[in-house]
Amino acid sequence: MDKILVHGGPRLSGTVRISGSKNSALPILAATLLTKEECIIHRVPDLSDIHYMLQILAFMGCEVERASGTVIVRAEKLSTLAPYDIVRKMRASVCVMGPLLGREREATVSLPGGCVIGDRPIDLHLRGFEKLGAMVRVESGYVKLFANRLRGSVVPMRGKFGSTVLGTDNILMAAVLAEGVTIIEGAAAEPEVVDLANFLIAMGARIEGAGTDRIVVEGVSSLHGAEHRVIPDRIEAGTFLVAGAMAGDRVTVRRVEPSHLAAITKALSVAGFQISTESDAITVGRNGSLHPFNLTTAPYPGFPTDMQAQFCALATLCPGQSHIKDTIFPQRFMHVAELKRMGAEIDLPEVGRAVITGNGRLSAAPVMASDLRASAALVLAGLKAEGVTEINRVYHIDRGYEHLDDKLIGIGAQIERLKTGRP
Ligand code: UD1
Repeated sequence: MDKILVHGGPRLSGTVRISGSKNSALPILAATLLTKEECIIHRVPDLSDIHYMLQILAFMGCEVERASGTVIVRAEKLSTLAPYDIVRKMRASVCVMGPLLGREREATVSLPGGCVIGDRPIDLHLRGFEKLGAMVRVESGYVKLFANRLRGSVVPMRGKFGSTVLGTDNILMAAVLAEGVTIIEGAAAEPEVVDLANFLIAMGARIEGAGTDRIVVEGVSSLHGAEHRVIPDRIEAGTFLVAGAMAGDRVTVRRVEPSHLAAITKALSVAGFQISTESDAITVGRNGSLHPFNLTTAPYPGFPTDMQAQFCALATLCPGQSHIKDTIFPQRFMHVAELKRMGAEIDLPEVGRAVITGNGRLSAAPVMASDLRASAALVLAGLKAEGVTEINRVYHIDRGYEHLDDKLIGIGAQIERLKTGRP
């Protein structure tokens, strides 16, 4: 299990090139199951989550080739089983259900199991498949889906915590090959859903309204191969902007879509940072004194839950009391205990809400990464802490950040990775 040592202190400056979006690439790779023809996907990030998705595709019988950011998939013959051994490693593998049901009218996919950021049900996905006419059974840890015919329907995707992103993706991928018109009500409007819809449209699907809360799909009888370039990763970009804000003079993220980061740059401005934007780049710099801030996570275009932990780390430097509420994943505050070990003053007065008193004093400590974004928050805190922060279990970081340590070193950070050789 690798560990990372972050030396606190060096000032960061320079430019970081942002990778393709993990959360776009995963459902887009699953969507290649919808056709027998070749699909070529560019700008696929080199991450362990992507590796697991390619493993699932290969297990199902797809031919998969990968070379420097481009993945080619041919799903000519297909098995419809996604086994526990692979699915348990990555929750997003549930998004093979939609395309399998769409193309083969059946799927047997392991339930993903627990997740450290809280209970993550897939009830909305399953109810949506039923609305399209599928029989759904949960048996021995597996979801079994079967349909003689899939028929368009009105499918609600909004749950008590907002719309579901992978649920919307799953229904979209089944509906493109259903008979008739499907209307997804309360659809997730995240840029990653739009990216998936654009890929499906390039494959011959008929979809309108992606990026709004009402998506209309007119089913077609088959889809063909297509070539697609994945959108930039807005969460990776946001994480580097926070790194620049916490420990930088001027840090620029390039190859980004600034409109996708509007909620993040607004929050940085409120905290007192200067943001300048070009067509494909954003620069963060200091703007005088820092201020505390209040944030509540919300579905896009609101403030993303995937940036909540990083802003907790940032708040430790902003004098006064900041309030951060996560309404999407209220349990997602595992980083708080670790940040406190580094000297942060944070209270959790109720589930889902953190109150951070910015004291500007972080000191290095050995800490434990618990999930992907929590781990990123610990690296950010380490950049500013006095001493050398030792972050264990960094495989969480490698799930979702392409070469995070190398990219930070590229803008002046002092980071070492220790390979221990143990899994
Ligand atoms: C996706 C992202 C993840 C992000 C999350 C919220 C991917 C691979 N992952 O996860 O990084 O943090 O969106 O933006 O794209 N819910 C239900 N029933 C369901 C499904 C979800 O109640 O059937 C609830 C969840 O518990 C959560 C909320 O809905 O409270 C949103 O979750 P969802 O959008 O489904 O998250 P994912 O799509 O799994």
